[in-house]
Amino acid sequence: MLKVAVVGAGQVGSTTAMRLAEQGVADVALLDIDGKLARGKALDISQALHLTDSRAKISGGSDYGLAAGSDVAVITAGFPRRPGMSRSDLLEKNAAVVKEVVLALQREAPDCVLIVVTNPLDEMSYLAWRITGWERHRVMGMAGLLDGSRLAHFAAGELGVAPGRVMPMVLGSHGDTMLPLSRLSHVDGVPLSELIAMERLRELEDRTRDGGAEIVALLEQGSAYYAPSACIARMVRAILDDEGYQVAASVYLQDEYGLRDVFLGVPVILGREGWREVVELELLPEEREGLAACARVIKERMDELDGWLEGSHS
Ligand code: APR
Repeated sequence: MLKVAVVGAGQVGSTTAMRLAEQGVADVALLDIDGKLARGKALDISQALHLTDSRAKISGGSDYGLAAGSDVAVITAGFPRRPGMSRSDLLEKNAAVVKEVVLALQREAPDCVLIVVTNPLDEMSYLAWRITGWERHRVMGMAGLLDGSRLAHFAAGELGVAPGRVMPMVLGSHGDTMLPLSRLSHVDGVPLSELIAMERLRELEDRTRDGGAEIVALLEQGSAYYAPSACIARMVRAILDDEGYQVAASVYLQDEYGLRDVFLGVPVILGREGWREVVELELLPEEREGLAACARVIKERMDELDGWLEGSHS
């Protein structure tokens, strides 16, 4: 049986573990610094499985030995945003968590594909990749699929179609410089920009960009987890099934879209080795500039993290 390690048994991690176990995607090891929490959640999830066809086994605790030999590892450990807190405020707080988790996973699951979920997303994905020193195709951040799902939800409501009929395209960072591209988002091959008036589309794009913050403000405690966990589970399945599924994900670019040495959300094809390739879309000059602007912001924060990492070694 295939195995997935999910680190962080909070809202995002536990719902991810539940979806993976119930879908029978793989055995699941749920890890948390709070071992009792992880054990309790794993036990609770296990006891629902006799109502499904799943034969997955799920274990929980704080011992990374549980993650030994995992095929995919998902990092959701860290602190969620509080109302009014930007993703960047989280940078140093979550960097320390991600570093500790990555070092442990590298020891126990040296061949895994790594999906980073902890925010700030692009920056934490970079940090994880830099610490591992792994080949870039094995590390990615989950964001574009979630941002796209939000755009699909809003557009489907506007058009009165099922959300699954909308093929969204959201590039850039999982943050203020996110780039929802209605021109490249389709319903049955017809671009959203031909189906919805431009002014209304801009409103839907803005709501997509602020989609996480809208939920943070409503929940008052913690951030979104149902849609994020659904997106993570979908990506894990695509990787384990070697599906060739296209999603937007945050990956390390080496000249794709004319950008170099930066983690950014772009469409990639998922397969057993992680992401196989970046899909290079024809962008308009202003869209290309939007992506480049986004890259400049992320790169600054990556430099900040490099400084933090050097300091954390001493
Ligand atoms: N090692 C392992 N687990 C840790 C560590 C650590 N060093 N530090 C914190 N954790 C665990 C916490 O004990 C907690 O159970 O991470 C879990 C985080 O869970 P929540 O607080 O419920 O946060 P959640 O809503 O799941 O979000 C997690 O995903 O979407 C992002 O912005 C979100 O960065 C946040 C992450």
